[in-house]
Formats: sequence, C-alpha cells, structure tokens
Amino acid sequence: MKTTAIAPSNIAFIKYWGKRDEKLRLPTNSSISMNLSHLFTTTTVEFSQQYRQDTVVIDGTNERREAERVVGFLDQVRHRSGSASFARVESVNNFDKSAGLASSASGFAALTVAATSAAGLMLSEKELSIMARLGSGSACRSIPAGFVEWKKGRSSATSYAETLFPADHWRLLDIAVMVGAGAKKIPTSAGQRLVWTSPFFRTRLAGMDNKNTRLKSYIKTRDFPRFGELIETEALELHTVMMTSAPPLFYWSPKTVEIIQAVWRWRQEGLPVYFTIDAGASVHLICQPTGQIAVKTKLKQIGLINYVVNYPTGGTRLTDHHLF
Ligand code: PMV
Repeated sequence: MKTTAIAPSNIAFIKYWGKRDEKLRLPTNSSISMNLSHLFTTTTVEFSQQYRQDTVVIDGTNERREAERVVGFLDQVRHRSGSASFARVESVNNFDKSAGLASSASGFAALTVAATSAAGLMLSEKELSIMARLGSGSACRSIPAGFVEWKKGRSSATSYAETLFPADHWRLLDIAVMVGAGAKKIPTSAGQRLVWTSPFFRTRLAGMDNKNTRLKSYIKTRDFPRFGELIETEALELHTVMMTSAPPLFYWSPKTVEIIQAVWRWRQEGLPVYFTIDAGASVHLICQPTGQIAVKTKLKQIGLINYVVNYPTGGTRLTDHHLF
C-alpha cells in the first residue's frame, strides 16, 4: 500500500539537548514546542513485494547517511508489522534542509505516519510519537497538534509528546529568518553526545523542570513578555552548553549575532519581539500578530528578506496527494 503524510516542523521553546539513552533517544529533560505551519515535510512510502531493495529519495537526492537512517527506521516498522517487503520512500521539504530548521523533526514525523500506515499498522497518537522519537528525538513533538510537551518519561513507553494547548489557543507568530550556515553543520545526534563535557550542563539540567513549569503557565495565560524573556534565556543557555562542549559546537554566524542584538534594540524601541535559536545559525523571531508588519519592516531595514512566517498548526496528517 502507498501512503503519504505531511508533518510540520516544530520550534522548541524549551529545548531538548542531551540523551540519557542514546539508542532509545530518551532525553535528559522534558521540552516544549509549537508546530510550524509553513515549514513542513511531505513523505510517500510504499511497501511492495516487487521491490528488490529499499530506495530513499529526499529532496530529489539519495544521500547515503540519510538513507541509512531511513532504512534503519523502516526495519523497525517491518519488525513491528511482521512484513518483509522493501519500500520506496520519497520525501520533500518545502525549505532548505541545511538551514537548521529542524528537518529531522518534520522528516521523521512524516516518515513515521506514512511508513506505519503503509505497513498496515494502526497506531495511536502516543504510539506514533514514540516511534517518531526513535527516528529523531524532536520528531516526536511534530506528531500531536499545536503547543506540545515531550515528557522525558522513565522508559521508552513513557517518553512521548502530547498536546498542551491546541493550535488556536494563542496566535503566536514564528518568523524563521534563514541565515547561511555558520560553522560546518555538526549533526545534532553527534552534538548531543558532547553535553556532559560542558561544565554548565549539570547546572542547566537542575533548572529544567522549573523552566518547563513556568513556560506552560505563560502559554496558558498568554503572558507574552514573560514567555518571551524565558525563551530567550533558554536559547542562550542551550548555546552556552553547545559552545562550552569539548570540542565546542558553535552554530552561530555573524548574522545570528546581528539579529540577536537587533531584537534587543527593537524591544527597547517598544516592539515586542523575542528570539529563539535551534542547532543552526537561523533565528526564529517570535511575535504576536500585531507586531508582524513592524518586524518585517525592521528585518528589511537590516537587509534580511529571506524568512518564513509561521503560526501554530496541527500535527502530522495523512493526505491523498502522493509524491509518486
Ligand atoms: O531531534 P534532534 O536530534 O534533531 O535535536 C534537536 C535539538 C534542538 O533542535 C536543538 C532542540 C529541540 O528541542 O528541538
């Protein structure tokens, strides 16, 4: 059977960085994110006895490292469904993968829903989130809708993401500003292995439960200034751990710093906008609908026109629009 799924990327407000179980991708802390309406992956999967091997094409190319990860995931689906058929997988992102915009999150969420459904498995949202987590940690948060929490859990069966609030709870805007890569991109899975080498990681961990609790309450009450201050602190803390790992992970470029400083300047001038940054040089500007035009104008003034405006959206879903 041939099945196609569309999965949104997500932006973490409280970040996942560090695993307590490498293979099961069990995180050291819980994290909170929002699904992004305009950054997504579409994936078609077909299992057939006629195929002699798995074929994997992502954005028109067959890259060995990516393909191996997908085939490893297909093996888990085959194991679970009891099927031995090979698969054809085709996947497209509507954005440039290399910009650090969480393509593995939307990629593995779409693959999970398309592949399990194509293999005839009927899984609950919780089971899908657990499977997506095994592909890429942050992918588990792209399965449920809206504002999402991934509880770290105690075991594989209890580490999955759930909706905290539906997408229409709060119309926050995420303006994802694409910035050309800084240093050579280190895959997040390799980067996360280094967390314990940072002298600040233990300190970070000690404060995570409190941060998650506070962020949830700020989203619940739509307290934008407190929410914004917290997500900025969190992003800077994450990058402090990255920069102080051995070897250091430095994802920023000069443009990243320019945007951070511009955001602080714009706030002083009275524009309510905050930033967060994942494992890349690109910066996500978070504002409310009333600030959208002013933020776009400011971005233009500093020569930045390459951005995508997102609002909170639903989770991963099936579609009839197959890629082949
Ligand atoms: O799921 P991964 O291995 O791509 O890790 C994602 C890590 C961050 O994007 C930096 C933070 C997060 O929680 O999404």
